Amino acid sequence: MKINIITIDGPAGSGKGKIAKYVAKKWKLKHLDSGIFYRRIAYIISKKKINPINKITIKILINDIDQISSQKNKILRSEKISNIASIIAEYKFVRDFVNTQQKLTIKKSKNKNGFVIDGRDIGSVVFKNASIKLYIDVDVNIRAKRRHKQLIDMGEKSIYPQILKDIKLRDKKDKSRKNSPLVIPEGAYVVDNSSKFSITQNQLNIIIGKYINGKY
Ligand code: CDP
Repeated sequence: MKINIITIDGPAGSGKGKIAKYVAKKWKLKHLDSGIFYRRIAYIISKKKINPINKITIKILINDIDQISSQKNKILRSEKISNIASIIAEYKFVRDFVNTQQKLTIKKSKNKNGFVIDGRDIGSVVFKNASIKLYIDVDVNIRAKRRHKQLIDMGEKSIYPQILKDIKLRDKKDKSRKNSPLVIPEGAYVVDNSSKFSITQNQLNIIIGKYINGKY
């Protein structure tokens, strides 16, 4: 198998994670969710009650961290952590740190088949030479509805208009930031994941299967 890295980028709540999990299972790749690193830093900031706009303190904090875990945890998915993660993701030193952590995680992994990595800048910046790049897009109202349901299912308080507002703000931050904004990476397959059936497993398998079988 010649696959090394598949990147999946897209805005908040586009379903990248689900697609990444499916692809990883199907092709025996390891899934790395780059957002986890931003969320873990946000969680430490929240625990230590640091103001997320206090760049100097955050820089000192990051300089003291050797390695950060890529393990998922439900507590990292709260709306409070999402909002802090979105603020600190604008800082170049945070992005540099997270990118190094991703490369370190891959280097240390025993998985020989390769990785599927999801995020915002994976195909455009972090792994520009990836074998296959996907960009997932979904209408913002649908994303907000999905996120609202997720939070309710998690037992969190969630008010739909507030979630919609938060997601719009996070989109704006992601797309307009100076450092590694969210863009469609060059050479990416753009996938509209708005309806439940807009990207079928079949379509995904054709895209990836073509590559694996050396047909392009
Ligand atoms: O699940 P959701 O798509 O809402 O967020 P996530 O992928 O867990 O990422 C959390 C935050 O980290 C987002 O608000 C992004 O701004 C940021 N992020 C980023 O800037 N670059 C990445 N490669 C991944 C996440």
